[in-house]
Amino acid sequence: MIEDQPKNTLTPLAAHTLRRCIHSLCGLVLDESRDYLIRDRLLWVIEKYQLDGFDQLANDVEKGLNQKLTNDVMESILTCETSFFRDPHIFEAMRTHLFPHLFQNKEAHHSPINIWCAGVSTGQEAYSIGMMASHFVEPPFGRYRSKVSVLATDISQNALAIGKKGVYRASEVDRGLNQELKARCFRQEGDHLRVSDDLRKMISFDYLNMVTSFRLDQSFDLILCRNVLIYFDLEQRQKIIDRLWQHLGNHGYLVLGAAENLYGLKTDLQSVRYGDLLCYQK
Ligand SMILES: C[S@@+](CC[C@H](N)C(=O)[O-])C[C@H]1O[C@@H](n2cnc3c(N)ncnc32)[C@H](O)[C@@H]1O
Repeated sequence: MIEDQPKNTLTPLAAHTLRRCIHSLCGLVLDESRDYLIRDRLLWVIEKYQLDGFDQLANDVEKGLNQKLTNDVMESILTCETSFFRDPHIFEAMRTHLFPHLFQNKEAHHSPINIWCAGVSTGQEAYSIGMMASHFVEPPFGRYRSKVSVLATDISQNALAIGKKGVYRASEVDRGLNQELKARCFRQEGDHLRVSDDLRKMISFDYLNMVTSFRLDQSFDLILCRNVLIYFDLEQRQKIIDRLWQHLGNHGYLVLGAAENLYGLKTDLQSVRYGDLLCYQK
């Protein structure tokens, strides 16, 4: 008699298939040491769709039998960790060095400042950048008139939905913001806080998968692509950096995560140091 294997048994073949599918869906590289992630994060998908186990899940994803299921798999495996003013020293260096530079330059040419947060997750990064920028343009502090717009993109529709809504737990907002910013940029909604309409208007959220070829119809003065490249292999990183390069305006800046760099990649971007921030310029 053949005994049924438990639903949570991840066979080597199912693991291999799922790793390959996840890589082609979103570029994420998972090696065998991450099989626990596949097991822990995808078991609920098996329950939700009442599948026999991981073998059936792998088969359904590989054959593309159910788009919703495939999407659930991808959403479950993405790491969307983020926070307001994540790595504060990076934001401080942008505030004291990079932004004044950007504003002076743009003000002189009467042109707007375009910023892109690629891999923005649930929006806190874009709102942090927006809050910082508004400090330069709004009274009583700001003395520039440049218009600032922020494009915020991600592959995760779940994360984007949270970003678009702009409602966060009070504890989360308290962690990254001082009272002045909190009062200026949020309003209380029960035990949550909602970003102000002015700040919300500055940001537009959109779906974008960075491992597929894409062409945006604008160029950017500043691109943030933080804590995203670490999930990709060298080949994908090279492609992404090339695409980001195409979307940077002349002398535009690229800011990566605090622990990321362009080591091993071919690029004409020049590294520039502003205080604690090592960024790259076209
Ligand atoms: C760890 S979060 C970083 C969020 C934010 N940039 C930060 O540093 O706080 C990584 C984000 O990259 C996104 N991501 C992963 N693969 C992607 C892809 N192929 N295209 C676009 N975004 C992707 C994930 O959905 C996730 O929201």
